[in-house]
Amino acid sequence: MRLLSRSRSVQRRLLTIVGRGIPTAAIVGLAVIIQAAHGAPVATPQTIEVESPDKSVKVTIALRGGVPTYSVSRLGQPVVSPSRLGFRLRQGPALDGNFELASGVTTSVDRSWTQVWGEQKIIRDHHNQLAIELKGPSGDPRRLEITFRVFDDGVGFRYRIPAQPGLSKIEIADELTEFCLTGDHRAWWIPAYEHNRYEYRYTDSALSKTTKVHTPITFESADGLYLSIHEAALTDFASMTLWRANGNTYQADLVPWSDGVKVRGAAPMTSPWRTIQIADSPGGLIESYLILNLNEPNKIEDVSWITPGKYVGIWWEMHLGMSTWGSGPKHGATTPNTRRYIDFAARHGFDGVLVEGWNRGWDGDWTANSDSFSFTRPYPDYDLEGLAEYARQRGVRLIGHHETSGGVENYERQMEDAFALCQKLGIRAVKSGYVAHGRGIRRTDETGQVRNEWHHGQYMVRHYRKVVETAARYRVTLDVHEPIKDTGIRRTYPNMMTREGACGQEFNAWGGERRNLPDHTTILPFTRMLAGPMDFTPGIFDLLFEGYQQDNRVSTTLAKQLALYVVLYSPLHMAADLPQNYEARPEPFQFIKDVPTDWDTTKVLNARIGDYVTIARKDRHSDDWYIGSISDEHPRRLEADLSFLDPERAYIAQIYRDADDADWDKNPYAMAVETKTVTATTRLSLSLAPGGGTAIRIRPARQE
Ligand code: NOJ
Ligand code: CA
Repeated sequence: MRLLSRSRSVQRRLLTIVGRGIPTAAIVGLAVIIQAAHGAPVATPQTIEVESPDKSVKVTIALRGGVPTYSVSRLGQPVVSPSRLGFRLRQGPALDGNFELASGVTTSVDRSWTQVWGEQKIIRDHHNQLAIELKGPSGDPRRLEITFRVFDDGVGFRYRIPAQPGLSKIEIADELTEFCLTGDHRAWWIPAYEHNRYEYRYTDSALSKTTKVHTPITFESADGLYLSIHEAALTDFASMTLWRANGNTYQADLVPWSDGVKVRGAAPMTSPWRTIQIADSPGGLIESYLILNLNEPNKIEDVSWITPGKYVGIWWEMHLGMSTWGSGPKHGATTPNTRRYIDFAARHGFDGVLVEGWNRGWDGDWTANSDSFSFTRPYPDYDLEGLAEYARQRGVRLIGHHETSGGVENYERQMEDAFALCQKLGIRAVKSGYVAHGRGIRRTDETGQVRNEWHHGQYMVRHYRKVVETAARYRVTLDVHEPIKDTGIRRTYPNMMTREGACGQEFNAWGGERRNLPDHTTILPFTRMLAGPMDFTPGIFDLLFEGYQQDNRVSTTLAKQLALYVVLYSPLHMAADLPQNYEARPEPFQFIKDVPTDWDTTKVLNARIGDYVTIARKDRHSDDWYIGSISDEHPRRLEADLSFLDPERAYIAQIYRDADDADWDKNPYAMAVETKTVTATTRLSLSLAPGGGTAIRIRPARQE
């Protein structure tokens, strides 16, 4: 064997190895170390290592009997033990073993980039990359490439199946990636392959109690490490769920097409990044931007029309059963009712008014009649053009609504016209929906046969992306309900602003036994929201809505509803309750009016998954800071260390807290509002009720 080429450049080193019985090659950081092992037996493992910039995280890639594997350690402790890599294809070359290492190229990146909007304005992308090429033994033309990026906060890797003899069309039968974890960790997870998509309460159990799970899934190890497995840049591929094959090992389980094929395409084909975020505190997972760093940069040149903000809407009244989406005497989306919401939005400085039920197609069982929906024709009692103009004159914009009820073909036929209409009317945001109870997404195949596809398979990954790209052409931003999970494409398409993809507030209106328990929002930031922003729709002030939706209620205190605006990040946040309920409580309403949705900095001050979390965020457009702190069903005393404040300044903290006798169950409305002078040396003591929270605005004191 020979070492063919080795560049001495600091930025880029090329390691090329040929022949069988290859020497052990270790790339440590950027220092390439080749240990020649002449005459070593064929079975000698071929190993390459790559470390993160601070050397805390290390990935080892080894060929074991020709099967590629990777393992991950942090500070010398194993995090992922040797785990298989590769694919099984329906036809063509075997990409599951009998490989040799052909080459390994390392590069190092340290650059910062600016989010168009976000929870953190400037993000540092600092990693070492190792791109390996696997090949068949001499004369065997099979090729598989895998690129690893190693950050101080975790690892991402992705495959590329290059064009090669015998492979033009690709049908993936199975991705063989494994994640062999090192213990029976505590896990927070939701099940995959259930009819209600991602809308399940999180289960907190031992890893050994899981079977098929969605990502992101979060783990806590016995020695205090926090891990999240997910994927980044999911593009024209099936989404990855995880199947616990045995013991502590998960195998990638790609959501199939209705005919069982996992992914279709042609070579060269690139997979999304498989990601493992690693932190030594729960907050470290929230402060990790690894998923965004693994996405492509922004593709939209002029972003002037992409604006974060807050909205109200004709929405909660339908969920409470006060009005209907469909036409008739209780129709919610009427011209006078919409004017009332527009006036309310204008009076209180909201940017948008969402109107659901404005378009034809809701009558009868809308969840079953997806082909009836029109995305351009309003109901006769809804003056679409007049209302768009009425809103614009008052500095407010209508937010469009496209509920497809899973009728993707019907929607795609109308999509261009629908977004063109939005652009014409000055509608800059659309909320969409893909409710499809108990069935999948209907697709007519090439033979005319109707099939049911999963929301999360490649067919829908393609559809959701087509909507993002079409909306961008018409300068429309998106808030997708029943979405594909977020994998960070907001970096590439910043018009993809927020989405549901978990149990949101709506479950409190009608979920009964399935409604959110007090700990739900103390789990979301460490699970679902590691993927990206969520349209949770906080801000319900009438927590008991007596007379409507018996056996339902919101299981929080009033102060906790305010804190959710800071804890749950979304660039578009709804003030979800009815206008009259806000005007009845002007003091807490002021916080919702004040709180921004676009941040400069995010810091987690304290957290225990499922118990409590306190997050501080600095406004992107002022010197104000905001803090949200929430608890599960237990009362808590927490401390907020304000050392992030400018030490040269004094600040005024407006504190919206649970009153001393508040309790989500027995006394949810009891709230106190206090003002305190604080500085960078202040340690604020927070007292949270059972199911409670605290919301704080901190602004610089005026210089006398
Ligand atoms: C489900 C969405 O989550 C909800 O917000 C919406 O009101 C209904 N679908 C109707 O589109
Ligand atoms: Ca939903």
